[in-house]
Amino acid sequence: MKITDTSDLWWKTSVVYCLDVETYLDSNGDGIGDLTGLGSRIDYLADLGVTCLWLMPFYPTADRDDGYDVTDFYGVDPRLGTHGDLVEIVRTARDHGMRVIVDLVVNHTSDKHPWFVAARRSKTSPFRDFYVWRDEPPENNVNAVFPGEESTLWELDEKTGQYYLHSFYSHQPDLNIANPTVRDEIAKTIGFWLQMGISGFRVDAVPFLIEVPEGKEFADPHQYLRDLRQFLRRRSREAVLLGEVNLPYREQTAYFGSGKGEELTLQFDFNGMQAMYLSLARSDPRPLAKALRARPAIATEAQWANFVRNHDELTLDKLTDKERDEVFEAFAPDERQRVFGRGITRRLPPMLGGDPRRVRMVYSLLFSLPGTPVLFYGEEIGMGENPDVAGRLAVRTPMQWSDARNGGFSTAAPSRLAAPLPEGGYSPAHVNASAQLNDEESLLHFIRRLAARYRISPEIGWGEVEILEHDAPSVLAHSVSADVGRMIALHNFADEPARVTLSLAEEPDGTQLSNLFGPDRFELDDRGRVECELPAYGWAWMRVARPGDGRIG
Ligand code: NOJ
Ligand code: CA
Repeated sequence: MKITDTSDLWWKTSVVYCLDVETYLDSNGDGIGDLTGLGSRIDYLADLGVTCLWLMPFYPTADRDDGYDVTDFYGVDPRLGTHGDLVEIVRTARDHGMRVIVDLVVNHTSDKHPWFVAARRSKTSPFRDFYVWRDEPPENNVNAVFPGEESTLWELDEKTGQYYLHSFYSHQPDLNIANPTVRDEIAKTIGFWLQMGISGFRVDAVPFLIEVPEGKEFADPHQYLRDLRQFLRRRSREAVLLGEVNLPYREQTAYFGSGKGEELTLQFDFNGMQAMYLSLARSDPRPLAKALRARPAIATEAQWANFVRNHDELTLDKLTDKERDEVFEAFAPDERQRVFGRGITRRLPPMLGGDPRRVRMVYSLLFSLPGTPVLFYGEEIGMGENPDVAGRLAVRTPMQWSDARNGGFSTAAPSRLAAPLPEGGYSPAHVNASAQLNDEESLLHFIRRLAARYRISPEIGWGEVEILEHDAPSVLAHSVSADVGRMIALHNFADEPARVTLSLAEEPDGTQLSNLFGPDRFELDDRGRVECELPAYGWAWMRVARPGDGRIG
């Protein structure tokens, strides 16, 4: 693949960092993180190597789904700050080489949104058709998204006697995208935030958004995504749509616009992520290798967003029941560490028993897999979850800045914090950014190095992946190649050392393999073979330095 103009397609090689303003840093001591607090950490994020900040919902909200229940698409939650504060963040971030993308949550609104409040007043309300109504619920009125928390898909509105659709919680009525006025409102929302200087959107729940409810007229749901993308392009040359599409690979192709790149710009790789956990549980790289081979081809402008953990449950819904049980058994043996029958509520380090070798191996994978890495705040310092908080919120605890009171997140009384900090081994006394900033050997410094190597290796973001054959069953060897060159990575999934022999006979004479994380080289013999020793859970990145290619690192 040819890397034509990398600055144009910035998302092909970006390092994305997701955070919730509410839990990042509180500047005024009310216990709630805010935009001013975030503003004072832009340097920290730039030093980490982040090039794109993804802000979770910061809009006015009824706050029954951590901000994913929006009451005003154009607003800023006053607890977090003002539009002025947001624009300052966007500008400061830009000065530090970072773009900002924001959550676009338009599959539904909060039931407290003025549109829904008006819609449910009467069947003749001009806002009635903003939502999806029917006289009787269908036979299958079972909520599959939040089993155990939410039983129905259709909720009776007592006053008007009709049922409304809610794909998620009953307080999140689905918008009706078959209504052109609703589509216009969504477009206006997008236009508004673009004018504020943001560089795109993480689009919430895309398959639900474009699903046309039974009985509604709307020819082609994917046409709607194409329209959104075109609108975005007309308004901004650089803006992206990073879509949440947790579907099998073959169905994801359509969301990229079937190879033409006309719909979502990026999609999270939920399938690869789940396969990675199965590989970790089995100490066997084959599930991950299989997933990488199964990834559909995508257009040049499109991109996969790789992640280890996000703000939701670590979903294992794409695994078979038996595979899911294996992962549960390995990483969430206690029923309380699971949710919805399909996911885990823990962060990575506790799942891996705090083993730094394994944790680092996983992040080395994250940054070396073809695509764009996405970090969830706190991963860079190895934060754990708070097991005392039930469900998905267990991983959304305050950022741990120091070992001071409240982990340096806030000066408020602990009882007033947006979320309670974990106690014990993962408390701020043991895991915090300040201590790690002063320790070159820390996970934080390690992640910085990964981000820096990723940035000088654009073949990872742009390249074609190849799974290399060899003789060490516990090791994944993958290579990514683009016109700039080639990088090979090795990852040992087992708790014992491994010796790998790779054959690179196709490389030209005089090719050398430099170690991207050390001063040494890996020597190729005269038959083009290289032998590498990896420690237990060891890993290596090798730059294929061809004669005269002039690459660094
Ligand atoms: C997906 C978000 O990631 C999740 O946190 C939220 O609850 C649902 N969408 C509903 O908006
Ligand atoms: Ca505050």
